[in-house]
Order: sequence, then structure tokens, then C-alpha cells
Amino acid sequence: MTQGLRKGLASYGDDAFSLFLRKVFIKAMGYSDDALDRPIVGITNTASDYNPCHGNVPELIESVRRGVMLAGGLPMVFPTVSIHESFAHPTSMFLRNLMAMDTEEMIRAQPMDAVVFIGGCDKNLPAQAMAVASADIPAIAIPTGPMVVGHHRGEVLGACTDCRRLWSQFRAGQIDAAEIDRIGGRLAPSVGTCMVMGTASTMACILEAMGLALPLSATAPAVHADRRRIAEASGRRAVQMAIASAPCPGHLITQASVRNAMIVLQAIGGSTNGLIHLTAIAGRAGIAFDLDAFDQIGREVPVLVNLKPSGAHYMEHLHHAGGLPALLRELAPLLDLTTPTVAGGTLADVIAAAEQVPGQDVIRTLAAPLCPQGSIAILRGNLAPQSAVIKHSAASPHLLQHTGRAVVFHSVQDMAARIDSPDLDVHPDDILVLRNAGPKGAPGMPEAGYLPIPMKLARQGVNDMVRISDARMSGTAYGTIVLHIAPESAVGGPLAIVQTGDRIRLDVAARRLDLLIDEAELARRLAAWHHQPSHRAPALRGYAKLFEDHILQAHQGCDFDFLLREGPAANPPANPSRK
Ligand code: FES
Repeated sequence: MTQGLRKGLASYGDDAFSLFLRKVFIKAMGYSDDALDRPIVGITNTASDYNPCHGNVPELIESVRRGVMLAGGLPMVFPTVSIHESFAHPTSMFLRNLMAMDTEEMIRAQPMDAVVFIGGCDKNLPAQAMAVASADIPAIAIPTGPMVVGHHRGEVLGACTDCRRLWSQFRAGQIDAAEIDRIGGRLAPSVGTCMVMGTASTMACILEAMGLALPLSATAPAVHADRRRIAEASGRRAVQMAIASAPCPGHLITQASVRNAMIVLQAIGGSTNGLIHLTAIAGRAGIAFDLDAFDQIGREVPVLVNLKPSGAHYMEHLHHAGGLPALLRELAPLLDLTTPTVAGGTLADVIAAAEQVPGQDVIRTLAAPLCPQGSIAILRGNLAPQSAVIKHSAASPHLLQHTGRAVVFHSVQDMAARIDSPDLDVHPDDILVLRNAGPKGAPGMPEAGYLPIPMKLARQGVNDMVRISDARMSGTAYGTIVLHIAPESAVGGPLAIVQTGDRIRLDVAARRLDLLIDEAELARRLAAWHHQPSHRAPALRGYAKLFEDHILQAHQGCDFDFLLREGPAANPPANPSRK
């Protein structure tokens, strides 16, 4: 097997010359022949001044480097795309597949025997996991880790569940401008990812559960010494994996580990975005994601993790309660414990080493869960023929069965223009409907599914309503919110033909979402529908055009159709010269 610097030579028609030339150039950096003969561990560098969730990446890289060198390898750091939620126009989801392609291709293009990928903010770990699943060389994930909690007037705060709660109070006039300014400086008190069970935390937990990261990688706070030690250990382990050429992501991302990840996603009260990303990661490994199985797991697996937005605590508390290994121990009767991990053993070994923390209230038991069912349900009905999603653990129980009058917004722009109008005809029992906010429609499926409560209702004390859309919402958000309706309205899904005044019925227990018009009227409206992209111009060039032409629907993971694994021929080895 070709390893190290000899892998993936640039094409000059003379391999010996290609290697000679490669060495000539790399020696300009002062490397010795001894260093260049070692197994190479690539380390992604996603540090960016635009990405505070990755603010600790330079320190983590230093720790990984140390681990690699202590184990006799050569660390090689390389840059990739980096995405922060608040600095990604039009949406971070729009860029996830770009990052996945960039990361995959740079892993393929450059010589490395293993790769350590460091990421955190919502789309980064999913993009990287998709990339390594396709490149399929030994790979270890290191999440950047959660921020520490904030404090304000004796209250513990977390980004960004409390960002939304307190902003809603500001909109309702319960907090003044000076106080919301002060709070704005306290909600994100350190580098790292949002410290509630948002998408970043969800994906970190999922990757650890799938065996793609070392134990406790998901939960150690970003600024905690544990995280630096995990990074060093990941570097060491990556060298062993580089020498053994195993395990590769293809060994780790299996039907069994995807099912384990589904169980963990339900039990942690995870983000709805996690569902899209897990579907995409599984798709890269050639595994079709079974939404019905996921829903059934949700009926049987309770929420055990007591973290916001479903519960009360924050990620650092989950870490101090024993982290993912302690949660996996509680879930052990439901999991496949034979799945392998990058640590070298199986999930059973991870559980055997899990810490027992007496008196903690963060990881509940199966006998005394936080919620009796899982956090996410899959809905279907004439409004969601393929599927829709609701995080019912973070919804208002009295709205989980609700029939109301539709108040329709044609696009995100339309919603922004009218939601706070005093003239908006809206009542607390109505159902707010947003369309043209799906993968293709917006584009990029913005986190606009958390429609704000109209100002005039918020000022009356209304703090939740049923809201439905083909958009996503932040994993840190809460409320009775139906998302990911597929097919989306922009491709002619039934959401496109809902009219203000129609009646809609949500029944989470029955897993239904229906527009209450008769079949003939539904068929007539669908036949009359023709796409009018009045809210935006079509994409004509560049990545936007690629996105528009190839993006898949939410229930398919929003990957590009040409990136799914279809078989060995569609998924060549990372380096052609690897024999
Ligand atoms: Fe980066 Fe929340 S904004 S994880």
C-alpha cells in the first residue's frame, strides 16, 4: 500500500519525478527526510475570524500536532471552508455541501494517511463527516466544543435558546433596549459552540455515538483542558489508524451505527437539523435513511438528557455528568454495542469505561426520563406527502393537537414585511404558514421556520402558536413548529396551494398534518399551480446554479444528487495510487 508522501502524486507522466518535485517544494518549509518518511496525518484548519465557534481551533491544532508527533507521525495542517451560522449569506445550509465538497477534494488531492477534522458550528461537522464518508480514509472528528454558560442577574444563560426567549421578551416590551444590549454581551461568554442541545451539540453527540470521535469529545467545553487532551489523544490515535489504514469511515458508518445515532438523537432532545445531516452522512455511505424507523424509535426511546431547549441544563453540565459514554450506558439495552469506534474497540468498551456521577440530574434513566417519548416526530398527511418534522419535546403540549385557520406568508421576505403589521388579520388560534423557504425555494432552507409571534399577539402575552413551513429552525429554538415539509412548495408540494382562511389540522399523536379541504379542491388547486418565483430571481451561474440544479429535498438530506454513494464505481479510493 502506498503511504505518506508517495500518495496521490500530481500527474507529470513520471512518478519518480513527481515525488522528487514534491519533496523539493516541501523541503522549502524546512522538513527533514526523516519527517517526510513518517505516516502523514492531515489536520483541517477551519479557524476564521468570521467563526467564533471555532475560536479555539488554533489551540486544538497545536494539541493534535503534539499527539501526532508523540506517536511518530507527521502532522500536516490544511485550510478548508469554515461556516458560521450568523456569517453565512444567504444561509449556512446553502454552503454545507460546498464545504463537504471542498473538504473531500482536499483530502483526496493531498497526501495523507489519516485525517483529523476539527469543526463545531452547526454545518461544519456534518459537512466534514459527509466528506470523510466519501473520501473514506481513516478519520477522527474533534468538535470545537461548547461555550461555557453566561450569567445575567443571577440567571444562567445559554446561546441561543435564551437569545430567542429574551429577544421575544424585548419584542413584547418586557425588556428595554438597554437591558437587551447588556444581555447581548453575556449570552456567548466564550469561544465554542452554542452550549444548549442545538445543532452543533447534536451533531457532536451523533458523531461520538457513531464512533467517529473519541469518548467525551462531544461535551468537553471549548475552553476546558479536557478538550486539549482529547485533541492530543486524537492526534496519537490518528497515527495508529494511519499505519493500520483502519478503521475507515466506511467501517464506522453502518446501518447499525446510523440506528444508534437515531436513538441518541431522540434521547438527547436533539436538533431537527440533526435529522437532515444524519440522512446526508448516511447517504454518503450508501445507507438509505428510514424515517419511519426513526419515528418508531421516537415512540420507544424517551428523552433522557435534561438540557435546554427541552430541559434545564447546558452542555458543560452534561460533560460533568459523564458525557456521552454515561448516556450510552443508560441507553445500552436499546443500542447495538458491537459497533466499532475510532478508539479501537466497540461501543461496549466505551460504556464500560463510562463514569458514574452520583446525584446528577442531567442524564436521566429509562425508568425516570425527562419526556416519555423521543424528541422528534415524523408527520405525514395531505400537506406533507413525503414527510414533515416536529420537535414535540420543545413544543406546547396543548397545541400538539390543534385545528386552526391558516395565515399564509408567501416567502421569508413577505413574512418579514407583514408579521408585525398592526393590520395583519391574525388570532392566537390561527396557524402561521410560511412557504418558499425550503432547500430550493429560499434557497438554502433558512432557519426561518421559527416564525416570530406577530407583535400584536406577543404584546397580548401569546408566546406560542402552531407554525408550519418547508424551512428549518435552529436546534436552539422551541415552540409548536412543524418544519421540513416535503416536497417543498417551490417544487409544487401542497404547501404551495394553501390559502389564508383554509383550515389546517395538526395531530402529533396520529403523526398527521392535513389541509382540511376536499380531495377534488386539493387536486384542482395543484393542477392550477404553476411556479412563480416572484420572491427571487433564478440562479444563473456559479455555486448558486449548481445548488439550484442539484439540491435534494429535506427528507433526502439536502445533499446534491451527484454526491450520493451509488456503488464502488461512484466512490473511488481517496488516492488513486493507493493500492
Ligand atoms: Fe455556532 Fe451556534 S452559532 S454553534
